[in-house]
Amino acid sequence: MGVFSSGGVGIDLGSANVTICLENEGIVLREPSYVLTLREDTDEILAVGRDARLMLGRTPKDVVLVSPIADGAVGNITLATALIQQLSDKALGKRRALEKNRLVVSMSQGCTRVERTALEDAVRTAGARRSALVRSSVAAAIGAGVPIEEPRGSLLVCVGGSTTDITILSMNGVVAARTLRTGSLSLDEAITRYIRREKGLVIGQRTAEDLKIDLGNALRTPTLMRQKVTLRGRDAASGKPSTVEITAADIHNAIQPPLEALAENIRDAFENIPPELAEDILPQGLYLSGGGALLEGFADRLGEMLGLRVSLGENPQDDVALGCCMIASSDRLMQKLAQSGCLVEI
Ligand SMILES: Nc1ncnc2c1ncn2[C@@H]1O[C@H](COP(=O)(O)OP(=O)(O)OP(=O)(O)O)[C@@H](O)[C@H]1O
Ligand SMILES: [Mg+2]
Repeated sequence: MGVFSSGGVGIDLGSANVTICLENEGIVLREPSYVLTLREDTDEILAVGRDARLMLGRTPKDVVLVSPIADGAVGNITLATALIQQLSDKALGKRRALEKNRLVVSMSQGCTRVERTALEDAVRTAGARRSALVRSSVAAAIGAGVPIEEPRGSLLVCVGGSTTDITILSMNGVVAARTLRTGSLSLDEAITRYIRREKGLVIGQRTAEDLKIDLGNALRTPTLMRQKVTLRGRDAASGKPSTVEITAADIHNAIQPPLEALAENIRDAFENIPPELAEDILPQGLYLSGGGALLEGFADRLGEMLGLRVSLGENPQDDVALGCCMIASSDRLMQKLAQSGCLVEI
């Protein structure tokens, strides 16, 4: 591709991560959805993405760390625009400018009208040649290779950082959908609470997430007691520095309640769909996507709890950005999704 050629750019503007996919190149960037600004003047941007997240839990008084995307929706337009612009410039590098590209950005299906207008403003201001918003579950389905063109229902469950989308798709459209404003972050919170309660240790948000990723397992396997780490933190009672040993079994126990709540919600959504659609879904089961799906043993545990087959792709955290990019690169897909009401050009 030449220096001045244009191409499709897909952005998953998630509440935990921004992921960018470029036509012919694939996923080129994933960075945390954070912006670091001055407390007195939040238009003054000091850092975005990974550089900003380094400051989590250690910001001096005069600066503040903001997540401009909360619960899958744009909470702060100026900062969301900065996040899109700076990270897409970084992803595109010197090769091409955003104004020469066609941009498709995902939008949470639980978005209210006000939230959607905010996202439209942020995307428009980012300044691509053409841009569109697409429902994130539809983008995820396309990225994951779910056969959504077919006239039978497919069930997709997307577990993000702070949202979980449960969607039934058919003929390029959404037949039924439910968005829970809870996701994999609820596991981090459960880990923090558990370690405070059971071990008397206060830990930070980043440590809890690291524990989930490194030691977390949704299944009770015989090796859980053997995997352990020594953790430094603050003693909850004395406030003094303290160390404790945490096993994978501790993490397994800590995350059971939010995992069960999630499974219960999915079961409830499934039980409320028309019988014809349920019959479509039973033989193939559900497709699992989103970063939360990467938790060890999660797909198997969910299948066990729901009594359904669960399919999981190799890179579930990439599905939305990949799908957005595939849409941005195809006039045919753009048209079909616009017709089914899942995509709006802006
Ligand atoms: N290997 C892993 N094991 C467990 N959880 C993981 C793993 N990798 C990432 N996650 C979790 O996935 C979540 C982020 O997923 P994702 O990037 O899909 O979210 P998002 O799209 O930004 O959020 P949302 O869709 O809610 O707006 C985080 O909570 C993170 O801790
Ligand atoms: Mg997401």
